[in-house]
Amino acid sequence: GVTPKIAPSMLSSDFSNLASEAHRMINYGADWLHMDIMDGHFVPNLTIGAPIIESLRKHTKAYLDCHLMVTNPLDYVEPLGKAGASGFTFHIETSKDNWKELIERISVQGMRPGVALKPGTPIEEVYALVEAENPVEMVLVMTVEPGFGGQKFMPEMMDKVRILRKKYPSLDIEVDGGLGPSTIDSAASAGANCIVAGSSVFGAPEPAQVISLLRNSVEN
Ligand code: DX5
Ligand code: ZN
Repeated sequence: GVTPKIAPSMLSSDFSNLASEAHRMINYGADWLHMDIMDGHFVPNLTIGAPIIESLRKHTKAYLDCHLMVTNPLDYVEPLGKAGASGFTFHIETSKDNWKELIERISVQGMRPGVALKPGTPIEEVYALVEAENPVEMVLVMTVEPGFGGQKFMPEMMDKVRILRKKYPSLDIEVDGGLGPSTIDSAASAGANCIVAGSSVFGAPEPAQVISLLRNSVEN
């Protein structure tokens, strides 16, 4: 089913207090914690990796929705599985030749496989992964260029979401980048059900209100 999942992006949190930031978001009503893993190569920014996921896992049972913005996602599968990641979403641009092996290994590690695509990548490139014998369980449609929080939502990406939702009624479709109270209606009406939100949640005076607003918009 396509139940709403609201996933604050921990990229906008205070990384020096990650466990308490995670607890705060779960108490505010978050379903998932979105973890942006960047290698300074696939994207021009460097964030966290398996050691920090492992540390955080000791403090929370929450679903850790890992978004791999890395050139070699295969290298991260076993470390992240052992660290306690829940979802593993790789970019199709990095994995055109080995996505079958990647999905297989992600599943073996007990994680949920997902595929992400950059704004410039056509939606057709993920169909084979959704329709595979061993398929991805989520498609992440980037609504900004990956790399940084706080960028402007690209509404033209909603065409991809609409096409996916029509083709795959029960697929988890995640949107990431620039989501908040002013852009959620566009994403929800296109058919997205997993909503990543960094700066709009962490920057709000009352993050719980933003999280419930996002959830209500997806439900309606
Ligand atoms: C961007 C990351 C996003 C980012 C979203 O590369 O994938 O998850 O943290 O942040 P906001 O919601 O501020 O655009
Ligand atoms: Zn992300």
